Amino acid sequence: MKIIGTGSVLPKKVVTNEMLSEFLDTSDEWIYTRTGIKTRHVISDEKLEDMAVEAAKKALDDAGMSAADLDFIICSNVVNEYITPSLSCIIQGGIGATCPCIDINCACAGFIYAVEMAESFYAAGKVKNVLIVCAEEPTRMTSWEDRRVCVLFGDGAGAAVLTEGDNIKGVKLSSASATDKLYQIRSLEPTPYATKEEQNIPLQMKGQDVFKFAVKASSGDITYLMDKLGMKAGDVDHFLLHQANMRIINTIASFLGQPSEKFPTNIEDHGNSSSACCPILLDECKRKGILKKGETVVMSAFGAGFVSGALVMEW
Ligand code: COA
Repeated sequence: MKIIGTGSVLPKKVVTNEMLSEFLDTSDEWIYTRTGIKTRHVISDEKLEDMAVEAAKKALDDAGMSAADLDFIICSNVVNEYITPSLSCIIQGGIGATCPCIDINCACAGFIYAVEMAESFYAAGKVKNVLIVCAEEPTRMTSWEDRRVCVLFGDGAGAAVLTEGDNIKGVKLSSASATDKLYQIRSLEPTPYATKEEQNIPLQMKGQDVFKFAVKASSGDITYLMDKLGMKAGDVDHFLLHQANMRIINTIASFLGQPSEKFPTNIEDHGNSSSACCPILLDECKRKGILKKGETVVMSAFGAGFVSGALVMEW
């Protein structure tokens, strides 16, 4: 397939590190040096589903395609206010599409997993035009009293439209169960028979373990793909990595022996918006003219699960 349209939407509320240090024992200096984040966009009176629909409409406009032309909608989302129906069904109604739709929860790697699903459906001859929307509100998953976690995240929605083509050159998906490193637990409705104790636990994270996993998984996925496709890192024009931590991005860049100019980022302004990071970054790079036709782009993301994935495409 090939990506022919992108779109993104950010919440209007911008929260700076200074604002966080008004109610948390933290500082701009600590957050910026440890993560590269200065500000993040945080949902206030917006609804995530509205942002997802708007991002989808922008991507369709950009692709010059109508919702009626879509054969499949894949939405990547970890949390939103609806447990059911799926966010993809809400998006379908919002844009006026009629095709089948599905939600996936692959945490921050959702965009890469969605592209692989789209490719596989396309290769099986089942679809031609696919809309991927990654919409996330991780700021509603964390405790805002936990300085170790809440400073890292921001919200947003990013979308991409894929159609027939030969631009996605390869995708590598990986999973390695590690349920105590990055998780959130919610309680379910009680029944007369449910006997286990339940409680709501906001997002918990073993930061250093996640850091190590992220570097290993992303470097491993990218190296695997390079080898499989007979490429070298030097052949790649741009690496669009999950925006979790600037130090993670720098470590992967140095592992690959590639200059930082090849790694466009928006983490300084946006923080980590889970699976929305990849399509938002892609959309911003496209609009800024960073990506030129024919260039080789690698995308790579990693997150809770652990799951990770990378793709190589010709832009
Ligand atoms: N402000 C000030 N101090 C903070 C802080 C904050 N926001 N968060 C943690 N600290 C403190 C800790 O309490 C600790 O203090 P102590 O030594 O007195 O116990 C100290 O800073 C060092 O904490 P540590 O966790 O060792 O820091 P770190 O260098 O590992 O950086 C992360 C923490 C979270 C920035 C880093 O581990 C990371 O980015 N990990 C990956 C997280 C990630 O990407 N998650 C999403 C993946 S999709």
